[in-house]
Amino acid sequence: MPRIAYVNGAYERTSAAAVSIEDRGYQFADAVYEVWSVFDGRLADLAGHLNRLERSLSELQIAMPMPRTALLVVLNEVVRRNRIREGLVYLQVSRGVAPRDHVFPMNMRPSVVITAKPVDRDAAARKAAVGLKAISAPDIRWGRCDIKTVGLLPNVLAKQKAKEQGAGEVIFVDSDGLVTEGGSTNVYIVTKDGVIKTRSLTANILPGVTRLNLLPLINESGIELREESFTLEEAKMAAEVFITAATSLVMPIIAIDDHKIADGKPGPIACALREVYIERARASAGV
Ligand code: PDD
Repeated sequence: MPRIAYVNGAYERTSAAAVSIEDRGYQFADAVYEVWSVFDGRLADLAGHLNRLERSLSELQIAMPMPRTALLVVLNEVVRRNRIREGLVYLQVSRGVAPRDHVFPMNMRPSVVITAKPVDRDAAARKAAVGLKAISAPDIRWGRCDIKTVGLLPNVLAKQKAKEQGAGEVIFVDSDGLVTEGGSTNVYIVTKDGVIKTRSLTANILPGVTRLNLLPLINESGIELREESFTLEEAKMAAEVFITAATSLVMPIIAIDDHKIADGKPGPIACALREVYIERARASAGV
């Protein structure tokens, strides 16, 4: 079945869909994006992603391309046309198309692209049962990582390096030796005292929607949670390390830079949180 994309008002075969060479997303990475997971054909953490989209756009002074209700109709239509039950939806909004000029051109009409793809949840569960290896890398990104822009070159290069070293994620470390986040995930540790730590929200990490919805679940579980920074060393010495994102949900990290985390197996807290998170996301999808 051909994949269908929404591109500026039309539903087209993804293989044939195109945007202008003068799109500012293409020329300047002047664009933002969102990724939703789809459970049972419905978008998970719907409002959280829409809220963050609106915030990213407003930080870049790009107008919402259409009202929220209309956007929802289109997002769901892309899911429907691709017959996605379990999967991912990608949305990108750029400032629009204009002859190349660094300053914002006048009267821009934002470009909107939406695609969707299926996810094999059984394969993902098998992957989570094994856990993921990570490498560390200096965080050389810009000072506004809280905006979800498509300017992801440092992430791309670091994740490629991780792959070449047999790892599945990179853990970024700032100039103070503190972990910021993953290449496309937020990072958490469980200390040997059983406390979960994750960096507080500042301009140098993305406010993950998975994070947003996981933190209350951690609080409900009775596990102590501290939104505070930790060093790479603390992570390596932790009882558990895990990451979150719409793509990987909750994923245990079993090694950093070839240093095993605890016994090198997915930790019980990460595994339990993965279950609880998926259950909640599935139950509340579409809302
Ligand atoms: N990445 N940090 C970074 C740098 C990210 O790119 C992402 C998401 C996250 C987690 O955010 P959320 O929980 O809202 O997915 C944290 C998406 C999935 C991606 O680039 O594919």
